[in-house]
Amino acid sequence: MKIVVGNEKEISALIAEDFIKVINEKEKPVIGLATGTSPLQVYADLIKANKEGRVSFKNVTTFNLDEYVGLDGTHNQSYRYFMNENLFNHIDIDKANTNVLLGVGDYQKFMHEYDDMIAKAGGIDIQILGIGSDGHIAFNEPNTPFDSLTHETELTAQTIKDNSRLFNDISEVPTRAVTMGLKSIMNAKKIVLIATGKNKAQAVYGLIKGPITESMPCSILQKHPDCTIYVDEDAYSLVGNK
Ligand code: F6R
Repeated sequence: MKIVVGNEKEISALIAEDFIKVINEKEKPVIGLATGTSPLQVYADLIKANKEGRVSFKNVTTFNLDEYVGLDGTHNQSYRYFMNENLFNHIDIDKANTNVLLGVGDYQKFMHEYDDMIAKAGGIDIQILGIGSDGHIAFNEPNTPFDSLTHETELTAQTIKDNSRLFNDISEVPTRAVTMGLKSIMNAKKIVLIATGKNKAQAVYGLIKGPITESMPCSILQKHPDCTIYVDEDAYSLVGNK
């Protein structure tokens, strides 16, 4: 596990470069994407690089980590909507090659096909992750089995509280989600995780220094052969001090 400490702008730029390198090297790159606040600057950097002609997404296939159950892709808090707004609408990608889990309709059927779809596409070449304050990655909450594939899950009270900042009222936050599992994530060839802010410090400590335990889902990343953790000083503060 490699660790890089810098401010949000610096670490986002480095992650964008990691993506650009993989995309430019591969004939049919497959990239794994996350939603939330953490990757926003990375996506802004990728949009800029695309407009400058430094990278093209024409041959890229994407797979997103997760989606809320109950939200249609047109809902402004759905992760499909987030991805369209913050990345896909601004780059030269074919939307048919963008895969986001469904939250309505026959979403369970799609969820069960998801890992096979990723495998058929050749596997994820590079996956970006954020991290929850409780140590979740994607929506793999504490005590999710390490061998989990894409599945439906219940969100913890902590995650619902954290995510309520993006909704009008906490009662509007969905309580269930579909998510790639921990094994699905570990299957990615390369992983980059971004964490900023003091409220991520405890989770980052568990990620880097803690025992590998299902009660701290992110700790499984210690076993990944090519994983880089990008953090700012606040998120790194407990590791730096203990
Ligand atoms: C989102 C996802 C989540 C977030 C995490 C952090 O696709 O998988 O695990 O990465 O909840 O969210 P932010 O970045 O908003 O702090």
